[in-house]
Amino acid sequence: MLISPPWTLFNIIFHIGFAATGAFIIYSDYYDKWAALHYSKFSKGAGIPTRLGLFVIYFLPIVAATIFAWSYLPVASLIQWVVYSAVILHFTKRVLETLFLHKFSGTVDIKTAAMITTIYSIIAGAISYFNKQTIPAMDFWFYTGTVIFIIGELGSFYHHKLLVDLRKERDGYHIPQGGLFKYVTCPHYFFELVAWFGIVLLSRHLFTLIAFLVAAAYLTARSIRTHQWYHQRFPDYPADRKYIVPFLF
Ligand SMILES: NC(=O)c1ccc[n+]([C@@H]2O[C@H](COP(=O)([O-])OP(=O)(O)OC[C@H]3O[C@@H](n4cnc5c(N)ncnc54)[C@H](OP(=O)(O)O)[C@@H]3O)[C@@H](O)[C@H]2O)c1
Repeated sequence: MLISPPWTLFNIIFHIGFAATGAFIIYSDYYDKWAALHYSKFSKGAGIPTRLGLFVIYFLPIVAATIFAWSYLPVASLIQWVVYSAVILHFTKRVLETLFLHKFSGTVDIKTAAMITTIYSIIAGAISYFNKQTIPAMDFWFYTGTVIFIIGELGSFYHHKLLVDLRKERDGYHIPQGGLFKYVTCPHYFFELVAWFGIVLLSRHLFTLIAFLVAAAYLTARSIRTHQWYHQRFPDYPADRKYIVPFLF
């Protein structure tokens, strides 16, 4: 069962507008035009240090989620606390990884940082806002969502650590090994989506599902570009690796 908001004009425009904006950014990013996101391997070299940019990108959604939950947090039900906490935990993990784990090499341009943090803040704020209304009681899918969320975050952390270890002895980019890198180019993206699917099962709101689908489309497109980037750069890049979903795609 999915929870839909009351279909006021604002809610209709908000849901359709969010999905359309997501589609526009995904298209732009894949074809490297208009609203393409320039960071990491696809940075254009100008901008602010990645650590600073990503800190801002991931910190503001925590603020947004908290502002939109403020009115009901003092009297929140356990379900509301779990949904809110999952969003906060996700972005806090990314803030901590940004500050203390990742070894970045490049820059993120201001426009990219502004676009990403705006979208994340809208996602985090809206999930918190719609969390005023929850499923009636914890059910099988809620418990499943909790487990899936934890698996996603742990898997994401593990594969981020494998990427960090590539730069233990030498800077630059290398062919990732270990974990699900054996099967796909971007297992860290795969586990990010696993975690967000867990949040969908916890929140059960239509908006959360749309946000998950936008993230899935974006990360799938980005994994294809990353895969092509590896093949161009490393002639010995394993031919049998998929893009993002082990054994499938
Ligand atoms: N929900 C969403 O829509 C969404 C979208 C994007 C990202 N994310 C989250 O952010 C995480 C990171 O995403 P990302 O796009 O920044 O990932 P990424 O491009 O793979 O970079 C992650 C980190 O690993 C380093 N790295 C990547 N490939 C490497 C290689 N071959 N050799 C050595 N170091 C390497 C990068 O260094 P450099 O900085 O030097 O490139 C960066 O520090 C994702 O796993 C996900 O959790 C979420």
